[in-house]
Amino acid sequence: MKIIEVKDYNEMSKKAAEYMLNKIKSSTQLNLGLATGGTPKGVYEELIADYRLHQTSYTHVKTFNLDEYIGLKKDDSNSYFHYMNEHLFKHIDISLDQTHIPLGTNENTQAECEEYENKIINAGGIDLQILGIGANGHIGFNEPGTSFQSRTHVVDLAASTREANARFFDRLEDVPKQAITMGIQTIFQSREILLLASGKAKQQAMAELFRGEVTESFPASILNQHPHTIVIADEEALQGVKKTTNSI
Ligand code: GLP
Repeated sequence: MKIIEVKDYNEMSKKAAEYMLNKIKSSTQLNLGLATGGTPKGVYEELIADYRLHQTSYTHVKTFNLDEYIGLKKDDSNSYFHYMNEHLFKHIDISLDQTHIPLGTNENTQAECEEYENKIINAGGIDLQILGIGANGHIGFNEPGTSFQSRTHVVDLAASTREANARFFDRLEDVPKQAITMGIQTIFQSREILLLASGKAKQQAMAELFRGEVTESFPASILNQHPHTIVIADEEALQGVKKTTNSI
């Protein structure tokens, strides 16, 4: 794992977007793994700004999102489908059939999970996965205790995750109790991973991640074994992290 320490959220977003744009411009085919939540919003704003300025094309890009809430319709303002459209897809030249997000309204959730996993495999796997991190170390919606071998699956959301995400909903009771998420193994098989973290709320998670112990009780810790993971984090998130020789 390498760390790129940046000043603040703004710089984190710019660095991550720059990294992604280099890949997008230098490849003829690219499978991008995308994340939702507060963390990547700034990155998407940067990509949109770049598109307006330089018309960087996404016609050769396929996207695969990490997760989706179970039970929310696509047009629900809290679905990740809606989030991705609003925050990225509708602003760039990507056709919606190149974009993939698990369907939270498929009544056969098991079939949906299998189909999603197969879509990723059939596309040739993910080249570059963007990740945020939960305060409890979750990646995607893989809560502590999830098997490192897991593939796309249904999860019961931790109370702390529902509380953290309640800020996007009117009431805590409205936050779905379940989600579909790529598994930890699905994420781990991405060729490259960019993990983003900003602010005080991520301090403990960063300290735990860089302690280096690899344990299923802290899902993101598996990234310590990933050959091409870069963490882009700001000063505040990295307070309390002992920088190693791997820092760049
Ligand atoms: C959410 C998402 C994750 C995200 C994480 C952090 O629950 N499922 O993909 O990375 O929690 O969210 P945020 O970026 O809003 O802090």
